[in-house]
Order: sequence, then structure tokens, then C-alpha cells
Amino acid sequence: MIVANHHVFTFDDKKYAINPEKNTAESIDEKTAADLTNAAPIGNPIVNIALFVTQECNLNCVYCYGEGGNYGSSGHMASNTAKKAVDWLVEQSGEVKKLGITFFGGEPLMNFPLIKEVVEYANKITKEKDKTFTFGMTTNLSLLDEEKLTFLKDHKIMPLVSFDGPKEIQDKQRPFKNKECSTYDSSLPKIKELLSVMPDISCRATMMEDSDPVCVREALCEIGFSTIHLSPASSSLFSEGTNKKQINIDSYLQMLESDSGLILKNVKDRNSDNLKKMKKFNLLFECLGEFIYNKKRETPCGAGRGYVAVSNSGNIFLCHRFVGTEKYKLGSIYDNKLDRAPYLMRTVNTIEKCSKCFAKYHCAGGCYHDNMGSTGSVFEQSENTCRLMKRIMELTAYISCNLTEDDKEYLVKEKIISEKPETLEDLDKKKQNVMAELEELGLTEEEYKNIFEGLSLDEFKSKYSKAIKL
Ligand SMILES: C[S@@+](CC[C@H](N)C(=O)[O-])C[C@H]1O[C@@H](n2cnc3c(N)ncnc32)[C@H](O)[C@@H]1O
Ligand code: SF4
Ligand code: SF4
Repeated sequence: MIVANHHVFTFDDKKYAINPEKNTAESIDEKTAADLTNAAPIGNPIVNIALFVTQECNLNCVYCYGEGGNYGSSGHMASNTAKKAVDWLVEQSGEVKKLGITFFGGEPLMNFPLIKEVVEYANKITKEKDKTFTFGMTTNLSLLDEEKLTFLKDHKIMPLVSFDGPKEIQDKQRPFKNKECSTYDSSLPKIKELLSVMPDISCRATMMEDSDPVCVREALCEIGFSTIHLSPASSSLFSEGTNKKQINIDSYLQMLESDSGLILKNVKDRNSDNLKKMKKFNLLFECLGEFIYNKKRETPCGAGRGYVAVSNSGNIFLCHRFVGTEKYKLGSIYDNKLDRAPYLMRTVNTIEKCSKCFAKYHCAGGCYHDNMGSTGSVFEQSENTCRLMKRIMELTAYISCNLTEDDKEYLVKEKIISEKPETLEDLDKKKQNVMAELEELGLTEEEYKNIFEGLSLDEFKSKYSKAIKL
């Protein structure tokens, strides 16, 4: 079968394909050559998909980029399409073993039987092939019941709950389609029930012009979410004029400005409780970690690179926000094309406006969908993004240059920022140590991998080392 990760070349007017992972080559016809050229190139396997198990929804959110959840083509995904999408992901992933599936829609819980089928199917693949899956779901949670809750928990499906905060905002922005009752009143008990068994779930609130970010954040913190993402509404690709309702970026910036002073004060006071609470909802902590360790982001997200969305009919789109927009259809799970060259070639340094910007490795050129909504082009940056990203970078720098080495050590020790990431040399050294320990146990690396796959060396040693020595 032809899969991604081939290199196609011509010699003597004939086409050939090399599979560099396996060091095999074959002579191919023109059509196969064209298909392979469009398939995932070396180094960019698809490893995550948003699976649109349905393009129907029971809510009618005022800002929804999916036009009330149907993305211009209403209906559930069929079982064979879903299974084919999982097979396609496995094929596209090349040598990568850990794959991710996010159930998306519309409201994914409206097609719960398909979610169960996909999880079962993927778990079967795990037993047969060298692949594992993690599952996520973006959901309004309004359809949660006992059976669904147990399934999510038992199968470690991590929900990201969409909830806009205080009752008046949630009900205004996220009403039921049939307007029968309040989504706040109906979803809140379900959120609390879910939090009681899955305390690590995150929330995502979408903000519009009249949302007060501080007030939204407080309401969500009170509910008990472990992480809170506040995201300004972007323009819908379907309906004109959503732009007018976009959040006033000033109030968001003001909140971040006052947070940066507060973060510093809490560091100096060694107030870990406050810092840990703030970390739940404040993106400045993540930026601070990236800044201190000089982490560089060259692309804003994985869209079109390691991540795509699969629509209810099996069409592949740049990301979940572009489903249903023909211009951003990259292919289909039923053919062998993946037309994504522009997204693979684009890094922040290829964008003239961004390449000289001080915030480039934090922002990486902005979200394609936000760009599209503001400027009409995925590759042209939105002014709001620039303002926001540049200020975030400045605030991060302000915090960083007021931290002493002791402060930084304290932040790492308290797990408020992550430890310094390991370099390739560190990893190399670690591997050498592991190899030495294996030798001592009388095992080759291959034997260890084949027999004890899934156990860390420490777990393995505590379980089996005595037996081996005997
Ligand atoms: C389209 S919904 C689909 C999944 C599910 N129905 C839900 O609401 O979680 C996914 C997420 O996109 C967010 N969203 C929808 N339209 C948006 C827009 N124009 N800008 C930013 N986020 C938006 C929703 O609030 C939700 O968190
Ligand atoms: S619940 Fe999700 S899919 Fe449905 S209308 Fe709201 S944002 Fe759109
Ligand atoms: S802040 Fe603006 S100019 Fe700078 S990298 Fe981001 S989009 Fe480009």
C-alpha cells in the first residue's frame, strides 16, 4: 500500500519512490508519483486528528464558526467512515507510535455510539500494531449522563468543556437551539459531576465584546476547573460581520498587565498557593517557561502539519475551524492526496512582516483562522493578534528580568514552571546510563523492548530484577 513518507524521484524518464524509513524503493507510474508527491512528506506525519463524529448540534452559539455546528453539511459520521479515518491516521503516521484522536463536531456527545465504536476500534489496532491512542473531546457537555460519564472516565477520554462563565454570559452566548431552558442551569450540575470523577478537566470560554475577562475567569475558577483557557471569538467563515462582536482586546490586555505585577509579587512573597491558583488560567506562566528556556515556536499550531480535521463525510481540512470551507480542504481519507504544501513551507521566518518581529518565536505568525477572519487571508496577520502577542511577550520579559536565579529555582521547585528541557546531549547521556544498567541485568536493549514494552526501567527493575538475577 502507498503511504506517506516516500521520496519520489525521476531517472531516465521513469518515476521511482524511496521509503527512507525502510530503505526500500520501487518503480511507480505517473499517477502514483503525483499522489505520493501530494502525500505527507518525510518528517511531517499526521499524528493527531479532530474527528467530526457529527455535524449536528443542540446549541446555537452566537459566535459559532461552524454555523450552529453543521459546517454547511449537517449529519452524523457513518461507522465505516470513522473506522477508515482511524486507518488513514495510522497509515499517515509513519513510524510515530503515539497518535491522538479528538472527538469534535457539532456536539460529539450527540453521536455517542460512534465514539464508543471508534475507541473500541482504535484499541483493537493497539493490540495488533505498534500504535497507541490518546482520546480527547471538545464538548458543551449538555448531554452528559451516567453512562457517558463512566465511559469517558474508564477510557481516559479527556474532555475540554466549552462554557462561557457567568450565567448571563453563558445563556446569552450559548443558548439551546430550541431555547427551552438555560444552558447554564442544565450544564452546571453535569460539569460538577464530571469534575468529581475527573478533576483534571479543562474549560474553554469564548469571549465577545461585552465579556469581562476577569469576571469570566472568576466564575470558571469557582466551578473548579483545573485549567481555564479564555479565547477571543474569531470571525466566522460562514457569516459576515461576526468581527463586530469581537472582544475588546484592551480589557484582556489590562487583565494580563495587572496579572504580571501580581505574579511578581507572589514570587517575591513565595506565595505558592496563589501562584498555583493563577497558573490554572494565566498563559503568562507558560510563556515565562518558554522565554526562560529560549524555546522557539516556528509555527503557531500543528494545522496541516501534524494535525488535520476529518469531516463527517471523510474530507480532510486544514483544521477543525475550516471544516466545510472548500478552499481549505486538503484531501479525503478515500484518496491518497494531501494537498498541504503551503502550510508545510510556512514558518514564521518565511513571513516578511513577522521575520523581524521580537515576538516571532512566541506568536509564530498567528492562528490561520483568526488571520482569515480579520484580513481575509490565512497568511496575513490580524492586528489584534499582533497587539496581543507583542504585549504578552513584553509582559513575560518584564517578569523574567525581575526574577533572580533564586526566584527561578523556587518556581521550578514548586512546579510552577517546568524544569529545563533536556537537550539531545542530556538524552544521549541518559540513554548510555540505561544501557549500562541493562547490561548489568544481563539484557540487550532489544530483549528489554520486546519483553517489557510499556514499563519504565525503574518499574521493570522493581518488578523483575530479582527474578532475573536468580
Ligand atoms: C465549534 S465547538 C465544537 C464542539 C462543541 N460543540 C463545543 O461547543 O465544545 C468547539 C469550540 O469552538 C469554540 N468556538 C466556536 N466558534 C468560535 C469562534 N468564532 N471563535 C472562537 N471560538 C469559537 C466553541 O466555544 C467551542 O469551545
Ligand atoms: S455548542 Fe459548539 S458546535 Fe454547537 S453551536 Fe456552540 S460552539 Fe457551535
Ligand atoms: S506579533 Fe505580529 S508581526 Fe509579530 S510574529 Fe506575531 S503576527 Fe507576526
